[in-house]
Amino acid sequence: MIPKGFIHDLLNRVDIVDVVGRYVPLKKAGANHVACCPFHNEKSPSFTVSQSKQFYHCFGCGAHGTAIGFVMEHGGLGFVEAVEELAGTVGMTVPREVAAPGNPQQNQIAPGMHEIMQLAERYYRNQLKQSPAAIQYLRQRGLNGEIALRFGIGYAPPGWQNLQAIFENYQEDGLLESGLIIQNEEGRRYDRFRDRIMFPIVNIRGQVIGFGGRILGTGEPKYLNSPETPLFEKGREVYGLYQALKSIREKRQVVVVEGYMDVLALAQHGIENVIATLGTATTSWHIQKLLKLTDQVIFCFDGDPAGQRAAWRAMENALPRLTDGKHIGFLFLPAQHDPDSFVREQGAAAFELLVRQALPLSAYILRELSAQCDLHTQEGRTDLLQRAKPLLTGISAPVTALLLRKEVAALAGITQAELEALYEIKSLNTVSRRALQKVKRPAISSLRALLRCLLFQPDLVRELPEDWNYSGPEAATIIELTEWLRTQEGATGSAAVIQHFQGTAHESLLAAEQAESMQWGESFDVRAEFRDILARLRDERRRQQLHALHAKMHGAGIKGLDEQERLLYLQLLQRHDVQ
Ligand code: UTP
Ligand code: MN
Repeated sequence: MIPKGFIHDLLNRVDIVDVVGRYVPLKKAGANHVACCPFHNEKSPSFTVSQSKQFYHCFGCGAHGTAIGFVMEHGGLGFVEAVEELAGTVGMTVPREVAAPGNPQQNQIAPGMHEIMQLAERYYRNQLKQSPAAIQYLRQRGLNGEIALRFGIGYAPPGWQNLQAIFENYQEDGLLESGLIIQNEEGRRYDRFRDRIMFPIVNIRGQVIGFGGRILGTGEPKYLNSPETPLFEKGREVYGLYQALKSIREKRQVVVVEGYMDVLALAQHGIENVIATLGTATTSWHIQKLLKLTDQVIFCFDGDPAGQRAAWRAMENALPRLTDGKHIGFLFLPAQHDPDSFVREQGAAAFELLVRQALPLSAYILRELSAQCDLHTQEGRTDLLQRAKPLLTGISAPVTALLLRKEVAALAGITQAELEALYEIKSLNTVSRRALQKVKRPAISSLRALLRCLLFQPDLVRELPEDWNYSGPEAATIIELTEWLRTQEGATGSAAVIQHFQGTAHESLLAAEQAESMQWGESFDVRAEFRDILARLRDERRRQQLHALHAKMHGAGIKGLDEQERLLYLQLLQRHDVQ
Protein backbone atom coordinates (compact mmCIF):
# COMPACT_ATOMS: atom_id res chain seq x y z
CA MET A 1 0.00 0.00 0.00
CA ILE A 2 1.32 3.38 -1.00
CA PRO A 3 0.32 6.20 1.35
CA LYS A 4 -2.10 8.70 -0.26
CA GLY A 5 0.10 11.63 0.70
CA PHE A 6 2.90 10.23 -1.38
CA ILE A 7 0.72 10.13 -4.47
CA HIS A 8 -0.06 13.82 -4.00
CA ASP A 9 3.58 14.69 -3.52
CA LEU A 10 4.52 12.69 -6.57
CA LEU A 11 1.90 14.41 -8.72
CA ASN A 12 3.24 17.74 -7.49
CA ARG A 13 6.83 16.80 -8.26
CA VAL A 14 6.57 15.37 -11.76
CA ASP A 15 5.61 17.53 -14.70
CA ILE A 16 3.13 15.88 -17.00
CA VAL A 17 4.61 17.68 -19.98
CA ASP A 18 7.97 15.95 -19.35
CA VAL A 19 6.32 12.63 -18.67
CA VAL A 20 4.17 12.60 -21.79
CA GLY A 21 6.92 14.28 -23.80
CA ARG A 22 9.14 11.27 -23.24
CA TYR A 23 6.81 9.17 -25.36
CA VAL A 24 4.94 11.62 -27.55
CA PRO A 25 6.27 14.67 -29.41
CA LEU A 26 4.36 17.56 -27.85
CA LYS A 27 3.87 20.96 -29.41
CA LYS A 28 2.97 24.09 -27.55
CA ALA A 29 -0.45 25.46 -28.53
CA GLY A 30 -1.71 28.37 -26.46
CA ALA A 31 -1.84 27.48 -22.79
CA ASN A 32 -1.61 23.76 -23.56
CA HIS A 33 0.52 21.25 -25.40
CA VAL A 34 -0.88 19.07 -28.16
CA ALA A 35 0.08 15.95 -30.08
CA CYS A 36 -1.47 13.21 -32.15
CA CYS A 37 -3.11 10.91 -29.65
CA PRO A 38 -1.06 7.82 -28.74
CA PHE A 39 -4.25 5.97 -27.82
CA HIS A 40 -6.05 6.14 -31.12
CA ASN A 41 -5.26 6.70 -34.77
CA GLU A 42 -5.44 10.26 -35.96
CA LYS A 43 -3.84 12.63 -38.39
CA SER A 44 -4.29 15.95 -36.68
CA PRO A 45 -3.64 16.47 -32.99
CA SER A 46 -6.51 16.32 -30.53
CA PHE A 47 -4.48 15.00 -27.61
CA THR A 48 -4.05 17.94 -25.25
CA VAL A 49 -1.86 18.27 -22.17
CA SER A 50 -2.39 21.00 -19.61
CA GLN A 51 0.76 21.96 -17.77
CA SER A 52 -0.97 24.18 -15.26
CA LYS A 53 -3.55 21.55 -14.40
CA GLN A 54 -1.24 18.55 -14.82
CA PHE A 55 -3.59 16.40 -16.81
CA TYR A 56 -4.18 15.24 -20.36
CA HIS A 57 -7.31 14.86 -22.39
CA CYS A 58 -7.87 13.58 -25.90
CA PHE A 59 -10.75 15.35 -27.63
CA GLY A 60 -10.83 12.58 -30.21
CA CYS A 61 -11.09 9.41 -28.14
CA GLY A 62 -11.79 10.76 -24.67
CA ALA A 63 -8.66 9.29 -23.07
CA HIS A 64 -7.75 11.36 -20.03
CA GLY A 65 -5.87 11.26 -16.77
CA THR A 66 -2.89 12.39 -14.78
CA ALA A 67 0.80 11.63 -15.23
CA ILE A 68 0.23 8.38 -13.33
CA GLY A 69 -2.71 7.49 -15.55
CA PHE A 70 -0.68 8.22 -18.64
CA VAL A 71 2.17 5.94 -17.61
CA MET A 72 -0.33 3.21 -16.75
CA GLU A 73 -2.19 3.45 -20.06
CA HIS A 74 0.79 4.00 -22.26
CA GLY A 75 3.05 1.44 -20.65
CA GLY A 76 0.31 -1.02 -19.78
CA LEU A 77 1.45 -0.84 -16.17
CA GLY A 78 -0.44 -1.37 -12.95
CA PHE A 79 -0.95 1.54 -10.57
CA VAL A 80 1.90 0.61 -8.25
CA GLU A 81 4.30 -0.03 -11.11
CA ALA A 82 3.42 3.30 -12.68
CA VAL A 83 3.96 5.13 -9.40
CA GLU A 84 7.33 3.43 -8.99
CA GLU A 85 8.37 4.24 -12.51
CA LEU A 86 7.43 7.91 -12.12
CA ALA A 87 8.99 8.21 -8.68
CA GLY A 88 12.22 6.86 -10.16
CA THR A 89 12.34 9.64 -12.74
CA VAL A 90 12.33 12.34 -10.04
CA GLY A 91 14.51 10.47 -7.54
CA MET A 92 11.76 9.76 -5.04
CA THR A 93 11.51 6.46 -3.17
CA VAL A 94 8.09 4.95 -2.80
CA PRO A 95 7.36 4.42 0.89
CA ARG A 96 5.30 1.43 1.89
CA GLU A 97 2.97 1.24 4.81
CA VAL A 98 3.77 -1.78 6.91
CA ALA A 99 1.27 -4.50 6.20
CA ALA A 100 -0.77 -5.81 9.09
CA PRO A 101 -0.07 -9.50 9.68
CA GLY A 102 -2.35 -11.85 7.81
CA ASN A 103 -3.92 -8.93 6.01
CA PRO A 104 -1.31 -7.82 3.54
CA GLN A 105 -3.19 -5.49 1.23
CA GLN A 106 -5.79 -3.92 3.43
CA ASN A 107 -3.84 -2.06 6.00
CA GLN A 108 -5.71 1.25 5.72
CA ILE A 109 -8.74 -0.61 6.86
CA ALA A 110 -9.31 -0.56 10.57
CA PRO A 111 -8.09 -3.75 12.16
CA GLY A 112 -10.90 -6.11 12.88
CA MET A 113 -13.16 -4.93 10.09
CA HIS A 114 -12.81 -8.13 8.10
CA GLU A 115 -13.36 -10.12 11.24
CA ILE A 116 -16.55 -8.22 12.03
CA MET A 117 -17.95 -8.92 8.58
CA GLN A 118 -16.99 -12.56 8.76
CA LEU A 119 -18.59 -13.00 12.18
CA ALA A 120 -21.76 -11.36 10.96
CA GLU A 121 -21.88 -13.54 7.89
CA ARG A 122 -21.55 -16.68 9.97
CA TYR A 123 -24.22 -15.43 12.37
CA TYR A 124 -26.70 -14.70 9.57
CA ARG A 125 -26.03 -18.10 8.01
CA ASN A 126 -26.75 -19.84 11.30
CA GLN A 127 -29.92 -17.84 11.76
CA LEU A 128 -31.14 -18.99 8.36
CA LYS A 129 -31.00 -22.60 9.53
CA GLN A 130 -33.34 -21.66 12.37
CA SER A 131 -35.86 -19.72 10.34
CA PRO A 132 -38.39 -21.91 8.53
CA ALA A 133 -40.02 -18.82 6.99
CA ALA A 134 -36.78 -17.65 5.40
CA ILE A 135 -35.91 -21.15 4.18
CA GLN A 136 -39.40 -21.43 2.76
CA TYR A 137 -38.98 -18.11 0.95
CA LEU A 138 -35.75 -19.26 -0.71
CA ARG A 139 -37.29 -22.61 -1.65
CA GLN A 140 -40.25 -20.91 -3.19
CA ARG A 141 -37.80 -18.83 -5.26
CA GLY A 142 -36.37 -22.10 -6.54
CA LEU A 143 -33.11 -22.11 -4.60
CA ASN A 144 -31.71 -25.11 -2.79
CA GLY A 145 -29.36 -25.42 0.18
CA GLU A 146 -26.30 -26.00 -1.96
CA ILE A 147 -26.65 -22.65 -3.72
CA ALA A 148 -27.46 -20.90 -0.45
CA LEU A 149 -24.25 -22.29 1.00
CA ARG A 150 -22.17 -21.43 -2.05
CA PHE A 151 -23.27 -17.80 -1.82
CA GLY A 152 -23.30 -17.69 1.97
CA ILE A 153 -26.96 -16.72 2.06
CA GLY A 154 -28.21 -15.97 5.56
CA TYR A 155 -31.05 -14.42 7.47
CA ALA A 156 -31.16 -11.45 9.81
CA PRO A 157 -33.95 -12.15 12.30
CA PRO A 158 -36.44 -9.50 13.41
CA GLY A 159 -35.46 -7.51 16.50
CA TRP A 160 -33.35 -4.42 17.01
CA GLN A 161 -30.14 -5.58 18.65
CA ASN A 162 -29.59 -9.16 17.63
CA LEU A 163 -25.96 -8.57 16.78
CA GLN A 164 -25.29 -8.11 20.49
CA ALA A 165 -25.31 -11.89 20.59
CA ILE A 166 -22.05 -12.05 18.64
CA PHE A 167 -20.35 -8.74 19.38
CA GLU A 168 -19.41 -8.42 23.01
CA ASN A 169 -19.07 -4.69 22.73
CA TYR A 170 -22.01 -3.33 20.78
CA GLN A 171 -20.65 0.19 21.42
CA GLU A 172 -17.44 -0.46 19.53
CA ASP A 173 -16.70 2.12 16.79
CA GLY A 174 -15.75 -0.59 14.32
CA LEU A 175 -19.30 -1.90 14.35
CA LEU A 176 -20.65 1.47 13.34
CA GLU A 177 -18.00 1.79 10.67
CA SER A 178 -18.84 -1.64 9.27
CA GLY A 179 -22.34 -0.39 8.49
CA LEU A 180 -23.92 -3.33 10.28
CA ILE A 181 -25.40 -1.14 12.95
CA ILE A 182 -26.87 2.33 12.90
CA GLN A 183 -26.80 4.99 15.60
CA ASN A 184 -29.72 7.40 15.83
CA GLU A 185 -29.55 11.02 16.97
CA GLU A 186 -30.07 10.10 20.60
CA GLY A 187 -27.08 7.81 20.39
CA ARG A 188 -29.14 4.63 20.48
CA ARG A 189 -27.77 1.82 18.38
CA TYR A 190 -29.63 -0.81 16.43
CA ASP A 191 -29.02 -3.43 13.75
CA ARG A 192 -29.29 -2.18 10.18
CA PHE A 193 -30.61 -5.48 8.85
CA ARG A 194 -33.73 -6.88 10.46
CA ASP A 195 -35.97 -9.64 9.17
CA ARG A 196 -34.21 -9.86 5.84
CA ILE A 197 -32.59 -12.52 3.66
CA MET A 198 -28.90 -11.66 3.68
CA PHE A 199 -26.69 -11.74 0.60
CA PRO A 200 -23.02 -11.33 1.50
CA ILE A 201 -21.06 -9.24 -0.99
CA VAL A 202 -17.66 -10.77 -1.35
CA ASN A 203 -14.52 -9.30 -2.89
CA ILE A 204 -12.35 -11.10 -5.39
CA ARG A 205 -10.29 -12.61 -2.56
CA GLY A 206 -13.37 -14.13 -0.97
CA GLN A 207 -13.65 -11.69 1.94
CA VAL A 208 -17.09 -10.40 2.94
CA ILE A 209 -17.14 -6.63 2.45
CA GLY A 210 -20.84 -5.84 2.64
CA PHE A 211 -24.36 -7.19 2.57
CA GLY A 212 -27.54 -6.84 0.63
CA GLY A 213 -30.67 -7.68 2.58
CA ARG A 214 -33.96 -8.61 0.92
CA ILE A 215 -37.31 -8.30 2.54
CA LEU A 216 -39.27 -11.57 2.65
CA GLY A 217 -42.10 -11.04 0.24
CA THR A 218 -43.15 -7.50 -0.67
CA GLY A 219 -42.36 -4.20 1.02
CA GLU A 220 -40.11 -1.19 0.81
CA PRO A 221 -37.25 -0.99 0.40
CA LYS A 222 -37.02 -4.35 -1.31
CA TYR A 223 -33.28 -4.45 -0.79
CA LEU A 224 -31.30 -2.73 1.87
CA ASN A 225 -27.58 -2.58 1.19
CA SER A 226 -24.53 -1.89 3.29
CA PRO A 227 -23.45 1.73 3.07
CA GLU A 228 -20.09 2.63 1.59
CA THR A 229 -17.40 1.70 4.09
CA PRO A 230 -13.61 1.52 3.94
CA LEU A 231 -14.10 -2.06 2.76
CA PHE A 232 -16.96 -1.49 0.38
CA GLU A 233 -16.93 0.94 -2.52
CA LYS A 234 -20.09 0.28 -4.48
CA GLY A 235 -19.14 1.48 -7.93
CA ARG A 236 -16.13 -0.79 -7.79
CA GLU A 237 -17.62 -4.04 -6.67
CA VAL A 238 -19.89 -6.54 -8.28
CA TYR A 239 -21.94 -9.34 -6.84
CA GLY A 240 -20.96 -12.96 -7.33
CA LEU A 241 -17.54 -12.49 -8.90
CA TYR A 242 -15.71 -14.65 -6.40
CA GLN A 243 -18.08 -17.56 -6.96
CA ALA A 244 -18.07 -17.04 -10.73
CA LEU A 245 -14.31 -16.78 -11.25
CA LYS A 246 -13.65 -20.41 -12.07
CA SER A 247 -16.46 -20.62 -14.56
CA ILE A 248 -15.53 -17.27 -16.14
CA ARG A 249 -12.02 -18.57 -16.75
CA GLU A 250 -13.28 -21.85 -18.19
CA LYS A 251 -15.86 -20.30 -20.48
CA ARG A 252 -13.72 -17.23 -21.17
CA GLN A 253 -16.87 -15.24 -20.82
CA VAL A 254 -18.81 -13.36 -18.17
CA VAL A 255 -22.51 -12.58 -18.15
CA VAL A 256 -23.54 -9.38 -16.38
CA VAL A 257 -27.05 -9.23 -14.91
CA GLU A 258 -28.83 -6.70 -12.73
CA GLY A 259 -29.94 -8.52 -9.59
CA TYR A 260 -28.75 -10.72 -6.77
CA MET A 261 -31.58 -13.13 -7.44
CA ASP A 262 -30.62 -13.36 -11.11
CA VAL A 263 -27.12 -14.53 -10.20
CA LEU A 264 -28.52 -17.11 -7.81
CA ALA A 265 -31.19 -18.44 -10.14
CA LEU A 266 -28.73 -18.85 -13.01
CA ALA A 267 -26.24 -20.58 -10.71
CA GLN A 268 -29.03 -22.84 -9.54
CA HIS A 269 -29.47 -23.83 -13.18
CA GLY A 270 -25.77 -24.50 -13.63
CA ILE A 271 -24.88 -21.19 -15.32
CA GLU A 272 -22.10 -19.97 -13.08
CA ASN A 273 -20.17 -17.36 -15.07
CA VAL A 274 -22.56 -14.65 -13.93
CA ILE A 275 -22.15 -11.50 -11.87
CA ALA A 276 -24.45 -8.58 -11.02
CA THR A 277 -23.80 -4.88 -10.67
CA LEU A 278 -24.91 -3.67 -7.27
CA GLY A 279 -28.03 -1.81 -8.22
CA THR A 280 -25.96 0.77 -10.10
CA ALA A 281 -25.43 1.41 -13.77
CA THR A 282 -22.56 -0.43 -15.38
CA THR A 283 -19.60 1.88 -15.00
CA SER A 284 -16.59 1.96 -17.26
CA TRP A 285 -14.69 0.77 -14.24
CA HIS A 286 -16.78 -2.40 -14.10
CA ILE A 287 -16.12 -2.97 -17.76
CA GLN A 288 -12.42 -2.47 -17.39
CA LYS A 289 -12.30 -4.87 -14.47
CA LEU A 290 -14.23 -7.55 -16.36
CA LEU A 291 -12.27 -7.15 -19.58
CA LYS A 292 -9.10 -7.74 -17.62
CA LEU A 293 -10.47 -11.08 -16.52
CA THR A 294 -11.82 -12.36 -19.77
CA ASP A 295 -12.34 -11.64 -23.46
CA GLN A 296 -16.09 -11.74 -23.62
CA VAL A 297 -18.54 -9.69 -21.61
CA ILE A 298 -22.23 -10.25 -22.24
CA PHE A 299 -24.64 -7.75 -20.75
CA CYS A 300 -28.03 -9.15 -20.02
CA PHE A 301 -30.84 -6.62 -19.73
CA ASP A 302 -34.54 -6.85 -19.11
CA GLY A 303 -36.60 -6.23 -22.23
CA ASP A 304 -38.36 -3.19 -20.74
CA PRO A 305 -37.54 0.48 -21.41
CA ALA A 306 -35.41 0.67 -18.26
CA GLY A 307 -33.37 -2.25 -19.57
CA GLN A 308 -32.96 -0.50 -22.93
CA ARG A 309 -31.71 2.63 -21.22
CA ALA A 310 -29.32 0.65 -19.04
CA ALA A 311 -27.96 -1.09 -22.15
CA TRP A 312 -27.29 2.20 -23.91
CA ARG A 313 -25.38 3.53 -20.93
CA ALA A 314 -23.38 0.34 -20.61
CA MET A 315 -22.48 0.64 -24.29
CA GLU A 316 -21.35 4.25 -23.86
CA ASN A 317 -19.20 3.30 -20.90
CA ALA A 318 -17.74 0.35 -22.75
CA LEU A 319 -16.51 2.35 -25.76
CA PRO A 320 -13.37 3.82 -24.24
CA ARG A 321 -12.43 0.48 -22.70
CA LEU A 322 -12.74 -1.55 -25.83
CA THR A 323 -9.75 -3.21 -27.42
CA ASP A 324 -9.80 -5.25 -30.60
CA GLY A 325 -10.12 -8.92 -29.84
CA LYS A 326 -12.38 -8.30 -26.87
CA HIS A 327 -16.03 -8.97 -27.40
CA ILE A 328 -18.92 -7.18 -25.80
CA GLY A 329 -22.42 -8.49 -26.37
CA PHE A 330 -25.93 -7.34 -25.53
CA LEU A 331 -28.65 -9.77 -24.66
CA PHE A 332 -32.25 -8.62 -24.34
CA LEU A 333 -34.78 -10.76 -22.55
CA PRO A 334 -38.44 -10.87 -23.49
CA ALA A 335 -40.18 -7.84 -21.98
CA GLN A 336 -41.84 -9.51 -19.01
CA HIS A 337 -38.74 -11.38 -17.86
CA ASP A 338 -35.64 -10.96 -15.82
CA PRO A 339 -32.92 -13.66 -15.95
CA ASP A 340 -34.32 -15.31 -12.83
CA SER A 341 -37.85 -15.69 -14.16
CA PHE A 342 -36.58 -16.58 -17.64
CA VAL A 343 -34.30 -19.40 -16.61
CA ARG A 344 -36.90 -20.82 -14.25
CA GLU A 345 -39.55 -20.79 -16.95
CA GLN A 346 -37.51 -21.72 -20.01
CA GLY A 347 -34.50 -23.54 -18.59
CA ALA A 348 -30.73 -23.22 -18.89
CA ALA A 349 -30.45 -24.25 -22.54
CA ALA A 350 -32.83 -21.48 -23.62
CA PHE A 351 -30.82 -18.92 -21.67
CA GLU A 352 -27.55 -20.17 -23.10
CA LEU A 353 -28.98 -19.88 -26.56
CA LEU A 354 -29.80 -16.22 -25.90
CA VAL A 355 -26.23 -15.72 -24.70
CA ARG A 356 -24.88 -17.18 -27.92
CA GLN A 357 -27.18 -14.96 -29.92
CA ALA A 358 -26.25 -11.79 -28.03
CA LEU A 359 -25.85 -8.76 -30.30
CA PRO A 360 -22.23 -7.71 -30.69
CA LEU A 361 -21.58 -4.15 -29.58
CA SER A 362 -21.24 -2.79 -33.09
CA ALA A 363 -24.41 -4.45 -34.27
CA TYR A 364 -26.18 -3.08 -31.26
CA ILE A 365 -24.98 0.44 -32.01
CA LEU A 366 -26.08 0.19 -35.63
CA ARG A 367 -29.45 -1.26 -34.70
CA GLU A 368 -30.15 1.48 -32.19
CA LEU A 369 -28.94 4.28 -34.42
CA SER A 370 -31.01 3.15 -37.36
CA ALA A 371 -34.04 2.78 -35.12
CA GLN A 372 -33.56 6.29 -33.74
CA CYS A 373 -33.21 7.99 -37.12
CA ASP A 374 -35.36 7.95 -40.22
CA LEU A 375 -32.80 6.93 -42.81
CA HIS A 376 -35.16 7.70 -45.70
CA THR A 377 -34.80 11.42 -45.24
CA GLN A 378 -31.81 13.65 -45.47
CA GLU A 379 -32.56 15.11 -42.03
CA GLY A 380 -32.64 11.62 -40.60
CA ARG A 381 -29.28 10.75 -42.11
CA THR A 382 -27.78 13.98 -40.82
CA ASP A 383 -29.17 13.10 -37.43
CA LEU A 384 -27.57 9.67 -37.71
CA LEU A 385 -24.18 11.18 -38.41
CA GLN A 386 -24.51 13.47 -35.44
CA ARG A 387 -25.63 10.79 -33.05
CA ALA A 388 -22.96 8.40 -34.23
CA LYS A 389 -20.16 10.87 -33.86
CA PRO A 390 -19.51 10.69 -30.12
CA LEU A 391 -19.76 6.92 -30.30
CA LEU A 392 -17.45 6.50 -33.26
CA THR A 393 -14.88 8.92 -31.98
CA GLY A 394 -15.07 7.42 -28.51
CA ILE A 395 -14.08 3.89 -29.42
CA SER A 396 -10.59 3.03 -28.34
CA ALA A 397 -10.27 -0.12 -30.46
CA PRO A 398 -8.99 0.90 -33.92
CA VAL A 399 -10.29 -2.03 -35.96
CA THR A 400 -13.73 -2.03 -34.40
CA ALA A 401 -13.89 1.73 -34.88
CA LEU A 402 -12.90 1.43 -38.53
CA LEU A 403 -15.51 -1.22 -39.30
CA LEU A 404 -18.18 0.81 -37.59
CA ARG A 405 -17.23 3.92 -39.54
CA LYS A 406 -17.70 1.96 -42.75
CA GLU A 407 -21.12 0.78 -41.65
CA VAL A 408 -22.34 4.14 -40.46
CA ALA A 409 -21.09 5.80 -43.63
CA ALA A 410 -23.01 3.23 -45.66
CA LEU A 411 -26.16 3.83 -43.63
CA ALA A 412 -25.84 7.57 -44.12
CA GLY A 413 -25.18 7.17 -47.84
CA ILE A 414 -21.74 8.75 -47.84
CA THR A 415 -18.28 7.28 -48.33
CA GLN A 416 -16.06 6.27 -45.48
CA ALA A 417 -13.60 8.97 -46.48
CA GLU A 418 -16.34 11.56 -46.37
CA LEU A 419 -17.39 10.43 -42.96
CA GLU A 420 -13.85 10.55 -41.66
CA ALA A 421 -13.30 13.97 -43.11
CA LEU A 422 -16.52 15.14 -41.56
CA TYR A 423 -15.70 13.84 -38.10
CA GLU A 424 -12.07 14.79 -38.19
CA ILE A 425 -12.73 18.34 -39.20
CA LYS A 426 -15.06 18.71 -36.32
CA SER A 427 -13.39 16.62 -33.69
CA LEU A 428 -9.71 16.80 -34.40
CA ASN A 429 -8.95 20.18 -35.81
CA THR A 430 -8.71 22.37 -32.76
CA VAL A 431 -9.04 25.63 -34.63
CA SER A 432 -12.27 24.85 -36.37
CA ARG A 433 -13.61 23.14 -33.27
CA ARG A 434 -13.20 26.35 -31.34
CA ALA A 435 -14.76 28.33 -34.13
CA LEU A 436 -17.68 25.96 -34.09
CA GLN A 437 -18.13 26.24 -30.36
CA LYS A 438 -18.24 30.00 -30.49
CA VAL A 439 -21.21 29.97 -32.75
CA LYS A 440 -23.26 27.09 -31.52
CA ARG A 441 -22.32 26.01 -28.08
CA PRO A 442 -25.50 25.77 -26.05
CA ALA A 443 -25.58 27.54 -22.70
CA ILE A 444 -24.15 25.08 -20.23
CA SER A 445 -26.10 24.43 -17.11
CA SER A 446 -25.11 26.38 -14.06
CA LEU A 447 -24.25 23.19 -12.24
CA ARG A 448 -21.86 22.08 -14.92
CA ALA A 449 -20.29 25.50 -14.93
CA LEU A 450 -19.87 25.28 -11.18
CA LEU A 451 -18.24 21.87 -11.48
CA ARG A 452 -15.91 23.19 -14.13
CA CYS A 453 -14.73 25.96 -11.80
CA LEU A 454 -14.18 23.52 -8.95
CA LEU A 455 -12.09 21.34 -11.19
CA PHE A 456 -10.06 24.23 -12.44
CA GLN A 457 -9.37 25.45 -8.94
CA PRO A 458 -10.34 22.92 -6.28
CA ASP A 459 -9.75 25.28 -3.35
CA LEU A 460 -12.89 27.18 -4.41
CA VAL A 461 -14.67 24.49 -2.43
CA ARG A 462 -14.13 26.74 0.60
CA GLU A 463 -16.48 29.29 -0.94
CA LEU A 464 -19.26 26.77 -1.38
CA PRO A 465 -21.82 27.05 1.43
CA GLU A 466 -21.74 24.05 3.78
CA ASP A 467 -25.42 23.36 3.20
CA TRP A 468 -25.19 23.55 -0.59
CA ASN A 469 -27.73 21.09 -1.81
CA TYR A 470 -29.18 20.35 -5.23
CA SER A 471 -30.39 17.21 -6.91
CA GLY A 472 -29.54 15.54 -10.21
CA PRO A 473 -26.45 13.87 -11.59
CA GLU A 474 -24.33 17.03 -11.84
CA ALA A 475 -25.21 17.96 -8.27
CA ALA A 476 -24.38 14.45 -7.07
CA THR A 477 -20.95 14.74 -8.61
CA ILE A 478 -20.42 18.18 -7.10
CA ILE A 479 -21.44 16.89 -3.70
CA GLU A 480 -19.13 13.86 -3.90
CA LEU A 481 -16.32 16.07 -5.08
CA THR A 482 -16.77 18.67 -2.36
CA GLU A 483 -17.12 16.05 0.33
CA TRP A 484 -13.88 14.51 -0.77
CA LEU A 485 -12.09 17.83 -1.13
CA ARG A 486 -13.14 18.78 2.38
CA THR A 487 -11.45 15.69 3.77
CA GLN A 488 -8.19 16.60 2.08
CA GLU A 489 -5.58 18.46 4.03
CA GLY A 490 -3.74 21.27 2.31
CA ALA A 491 -4.23 22.31 -1.28
CA THR A 492 -5.53 19.72 -3.72
CA GLY A 493 -4.62 20.08 -7.36
CA SER A 494 -6.79 19.25 -10.35
CA ALA A 495 -4.63 16.22 -11.07
CA ALA A 496 -5.28 14.74 -7.63
CA VAL A 497 -9.01 15.10 -8.29
CA ILE A 498 -8.83 13.17 -11.54
CA GLN A 499 -6.68 10.53 -9.96
CA HIS A 500 -9.15 10.07 -7.13
CA PHE A 501 -12.27 9.81 -9.27
CA GLN A 502 -10.79 7.69 -12.04
CA GLY A 503 -13.00 4.69 -12.53
CA THR A 504 -15.93 5.98 -10.48
CA ALA A 505 -19.40 6.83 -11.74
CA HIS A 506 -18.40 10.49 -11.71
CA GLU A 507 -15.45 10.03 -14.01
CA SER A 508 -17.08 10.81 -17.32
CA LEU A 509 -18.76 14.01 -16.19
CA LEU A 510 -15.59 15.21 -14.48
CA ALA A 511 -13.53 14.38 -17.54
CA ALA A 512 -15.90 16.26 -19.80
CA GLU A 513 -15.76 19.37 -17.65
CA GLN A 514 -12.02 19.09 -17.21
CA ALA A 515 -11.66 18.97 -20.95
CA GLU A 516 -13.77 22.10 -21.28
CA SER A 517 -11.78 23.92 -18.64
CA MET A 518 -8.69 23.38 -20.77
CA GLN A 519 -9.97 26.15 -22.99
CA TRP A 520 -9.63 28.67 -20.19
CA GLY A 521 -6.50 30.72 -20.40
CA GLU A 522 -4.17 31.42 -17.49
CA SER A 523 -5.67 34.85 -16.93
CA PHE A 524 -9.25 33.63 -16.68
CA ASP A 525 -10.81 34.88 -13.44
CA VAL A 526 -12.26 31.61 -12.26
CA ARG A 527 -13.11 32.92 -8.80
CA ALA A 528 -15.30 35.66 -10.24
CA GLU A 529 -16.97 33.13 -12.52
CA PHE A 530 -17.55 30.82 -9.57
CA ARG A 531 -19.16 33.57 -7.46
CA ASP A 532 -21.28 34.57 -10.39
CA ILE A 533 -22.63 31.08 -10.84
CA LEU A 534 -23.36 30.71 -7.14
CA ALA A 535 -25.26 33.97 -7.21
CA ARG A 536 -27.15 32.82 -10.27
CA LEU A 537 -28.08 29.54 -8.57
CA ARG A 538 -29.21 31.37 -5.45
CA ASP A 539 -31.33 33.64 -7.59
CA GLU A 540 -32.91 30.73 -9.41
CA ARG A 541 -33.72 29.05 -6.14
CA ARG A 542 -35.22 32.21 -4.67
CA ARG A 543 -37.35 32.64 -7.73
CA GLN A 544 -38.56 29.06 -7.46
CA GLN A 545 -39.33 29.40 -3.77
CA LEU A 546 -41.22 32.63 -4.35
CA HIS A 547 -43.11 30.99 -7.14
CA ALA A 548 -44.11 28.10 -4.91
CA LEU A 549 -45.18 30.46 -2.11
CA HIS A 550 -47.22 32.60 -4.51
CA ALA A 551 -48.97 29.49 -5.70
CA LYS A 552 -49.74 28.55 -2.13
CA MET A 553 -51.05 32.02 -1.24
CA HIS A 554 -53.47 31.67 -4.06
CA GLY A 555 -55.50 34.83 -3.57
CA ALA A 556 -55.53 34.49 0.22
CA GLY A 557 -52.47 36.68 0.46
CA ILE A 558 -49.98 36.05 3.19
CA LYS A 559 -52.75 34.42 5.27
CA GLY A 560 -52.45 31.40 3.03
CA LEU A 561 -49.03 30.67 4.51
CA ASP A 562 -48.05 29.13 7.79
CA GLU A 563 -45.68 30.94 10.09
CA GLN A 564 -42.48 29.47 8.77
CA GLU A 565 -43.49 30.13 5.19
CA ARG A 566 -44.33 33.73 5.99
CA LEU A 567 -40.90 34.24 7.46
CA LEU A 568 -39.31 32.73 4.38
CA TYR A 569 -41.51 34.85 2.15
CA LEU A 570 -40.51 38.08 3.84
CA GLN A 571 -36.85 37.14 3.70
CA LEU A 572 -37.10 36.34 0.05
CA LEU A 573 -38.86 39.62 -0.71
CA GLN A 574 -36.16 41.59 1.03
CA ARG A 575 -33.48 40.02 -1.07
CA HIS A 576 -35.15 39.90 -4.36
CA ASP A 577 -37.08 41.82 -6.97
CA VAL A 578 -40.22 39.87 -7.57
CA GLN A 579 -40.44 39.00 -11.22
P1 UTP B 1 -34.38 -6.01 -8.96
O1 UTP B 1 -35.58 -5.32 -8.44
O2 UTP B 1 -34.38 -6.46 -10.37
O3 UTP B 1 -34.04 -7.20 -7.95
O4 UTP B 1 -33.18 -5.05 -8.69
P2 UTP B 1 -33.89 -8.77 -8.12
O5 UTP B 1 -32.50 -9.13 -7.76
O6 UTP B 1 -34.42 -9.24 -9.41
O7 UTP B 1 -34.79 -9.26 -6.91
P3 UTP B 1 -36.19 -10.00 -6.89
O8 UTP B 1 -36.21 -10.97 -8.03
O9 UTP B 1 -37.24 -8.95 -7.00
O10 UTP B 1 -36.19 -10.66 -5.57
C1 UTP B 1 -31.90 -5.33 -9.20
C2 UTP B 1 -30.86 -5.01 -8.18
O11 UTP B 1 -30.95 -3.65 -7.81
C3 UTP B 1 -30.60 -3.48 -6.45
C4 UTP B 1 -30.21 -4.87 -5.95
O12 UTP B 1 -28.81 -5.03 -6.12
C5 UTP B 1 -30.99 -5.77 -6.87
O13 UTP B 1 -30.47 -7.08 -6.95
N1 UTP B 1 -31.72 -2.96 -5.67
C6 UTP B 1 -33.01 -3.12 -6.06
C7 UTP B 1 -31.47 -2.31 -4.48
O14 UTP B 1 -30.30 -2.15 -4.10
N2 UTP B 1 -32.52 -1.84 -3.73
C8 UTP B 1 -33.82 -2.01 -4.08
O15 UTP B 1 -34.73 -1.60 -3.34
C9 UTP B 1 -34.06 -2.65 -5.31
MN1 MN C 1 -36.00 -10.51 -10.04
